[in-house]
Amino acid sequence: MRFGLLFLAALTVFAPLAAHSTPSPRPTPTHAIEAEIEAKVSALLAQMTLEEKVGQLNFPSYAFPREPQIEAVKQGRIGAMLNVAHPDHVQVFEEAARASRLKIPMLFAIDSIHSFHIAFPTPIAWAATWRPELAERATEAIGRETAQIGVNLTFAPMVDISRDPRWGRVIEGAGEDPYLASAFSAARVRGYHKGGLATAAKHFVGYGAPEGGRDYNGAQISNAELFDRYIPPFKAAIDAGTETVMASFNTVNGVPVTANHRLLTGVLKERLGFDGLVMSDFAAVKELVNHGVAADLSEAAQKAIHAGIDLDMEGKAFTNHLADNVRAGRVPMSEIDAAVRRVLRVKYRMGLFPDSPGGVRKVPPAMPEAAVRKTARAVARESFVLLKNNGATLPITPQSGTVALIGAAALSTNDHSWYGPAGLEKPVTETLRDALGGRIGKDQKLLFAEGFADGCGQAFGDKEKALETARAADVVVLVLAEDCAASGEGVSRTHLGLTGVQGEMLDALAKVGKPIALVLETGRPLALTDVSEKVASLLIAWHPGTEGRTALAEVLVGEFAPSGKLPMTFPRSVGQVPISYDDLPTSRPSTGDRFTTGYVDEKPTPLYPFGHGLSYTTFRYSGLKISAPEVSRAGTVDIQVDIQNTGSRGGQEVVQLYTRQLVASRSRPMRELKGFKKIGLAPGEKETVRFSVKASDLVFHDDDGKPVMEPGKFSVFVGGSSVADLEGAFTIRRD
Ligand code: BGC
Repeated sequence: MRFGLLFLAALTVFAPLAAHSTPSPRPTPTHAIEAEIEAKVSALLAQMTLEEKVGQLNFPSYAFPREPQIEAVKQGRIGAMLNVAHPDHVQVFEEAARASRLKIPMLFAIDSIHSFHIAFPTPIAWAATWRPELAERATEAIGRETAQIGVNLTFAPMVDISRDPRWGRVIEGAGEDPYLASAFSAARVRGYHKGGLATAAKHFVGYGAPEGGRDYNGAQISNAELFDRYIPPFKAAIDAGTETVMASFNTVNGVPVTANHRLLTGVLKERLGFDGLVMSDFAAVKELVNHGVAADLSEAAQKAIHAGIDLDMEGKAFTNHLADNVRAGRVPMSEIDAAVRRVLRVKYRMGLFPDSPGGVRKVPPAMPEAAVRKTARAVARESFVLLKNNGATLPITPQSGTVALIGAAALSTNDHSWYGPAGLEKPVTETLRDALGGRIGKDQKLLFAEGFADGCGQAFGDKEKALETARAADVVVLVLAEDCAASGEGVSRTHLGLTGVQGEMLDALAKVGKPIALVLETGRPLALTDVSEKVASLLIAWHPGTEGRTALAEVLVGEFAPSGKLPMTFPRSVGQVPISYDDLPTSRPSTGDRFTTGYVDEKPTPLYPFGHGLSYTTFRYSGLKISAPEVSRAGTVDIQVDIQNTGSRGGQEVVQLYTRQLVASRSRPMRELKGFKKIGLAPGEKETVRFSVKASDLVFHDDDGKPVMEPGKFSVFVGGSSVADLEGAFTIRRD
């Protein structure tokens, strides 16, 4: 009963937050406003010296002592700055910009990714909720907190698709699937905008596909794959109005993106029609020398501006060499003007000039901390993914008996805010031990042992005490964490198992023989084959943020049922990586026989597939109906399915729709996500869920990157994961 009431609360929890939302603080672009902006930009450009133009393309990091930078701003030689993390500092530079000849306002940018003050779970966890509106609320809250210090641009959202959990930055994205990631990309842009920040969709493009999973490494991506898989989330961000796009560090097909005219100008600016500004990543223009495509900084500047980089982040190549390059005739003034035009256009669009057409930027008021916490808790709650739950080990109820909570991570208040301004007071964060202690049945015993010397299990603490504690209990809740510094930028891994001595602890505890509910904090999919065999239940908690451990306790005791689904495949072993659900068929589909696709030493299937995630209840899918057996190329297919909660608890389910084109001019993925809906059902309740798929949603790209719509037969699969087995079909006619 307690569950039922709280479950209803879960479905309505967002309504009150609307009261804290404000109308969009950004001017709404119209044709008239855009025309006025272009006229103002032209007028301003006409007044600018070459040095002032180059200044608008210079984007250094805040440095100390700051007097030289203040002076440079006054001279019009700096147009944007990153990492200004204090309101007083922002003000100093704003004043300097106002004291410059042309008084052009500055961009102030920061990595406000998943936290500013209150830490939200990390973006991969947002994707695990399968509720883009939660990511929108999260980014609005983060944006509003950040905007209070005067920052006007966030280096987010990161929308890189990745099928490679060795790459540490999967934590910042929305996983492996372009459809899911596009929904989150747009939602994150909308949320930041509501929060008063402009956005930088990053890293265009292919940064998530480095060979070997090594950060910064090159990617090989065919045109077809580029447009089918990697570009859609950028397109979604552009459609949602992102003002800026950040280029990626790496090479794609041998050419660094920072010097890649085909990708930045041909694809991003011309084909996708992006007319905002394109910035380099940190020092990436300078690093063209390391890539071996420029002999020195001067040549790096030429190549980058020609490729389509408008803003040189911390590279010093533009500021030191562009003007000379223009004077020597190596860089045409038209390339400088085009870049400056984009920078000024964005500044006008953001409402930074006092005479911005469409209105001056308004910063929405800070959200009350309680409201931010409430949103952070709600996001965390829905992000946990229950991968396994033998014998209904979870939730912990009074009938579970004595509970042994084991693991120093249960005392952790680490919110994994690896990006964001430093020096702010850390918010109060409840530990899992306290949160669970406050929720366990009043006649029930909760025993606790740290077991490790640190929260990430790098070394043992009192291991024997941990084992004794397990022996004295009926059920063990073991909390383990991927090494806290093992996710994020520059932390690729080759081993995807538990770090430190956590595996040894699990082995020892498994021998005790009590059912183990493993709670695992991680920034990426791990290879958990051995781990999974030793535990009765496995809950992926990601890095849950400031309110995360409280949310975790709520879910562990069943106040809320887990409802997350994997946005990325969990492999059986590292050798399967890269891995995703949307594989192409092969000439020899796997049968287990030697001469079929697969491995001699591993199953071909993942340990836990994309889209997988259990609840404390069960759902039955039936009654799949497809509106018509055939549709035209301009038509739409309506698909409906009934879902019933067949258990005795309430719960939420993510209903997923996949299609497969059976015969086409190129092999098409065996499944592609084309729709999803998260619904809540009370015990016994049944709901019909409807999807509409346009024939045009089934377009793919050929070797030249051209969109192709081929008529033919499509299979449809509906269910609660990418291995959904309720199947139907329809055909797209030639007409
Ligand atoms: C990262 C970007 C980040 C930038 C500024 C780079 O190293 O790749 O994602 O926005 O630094 O901090």
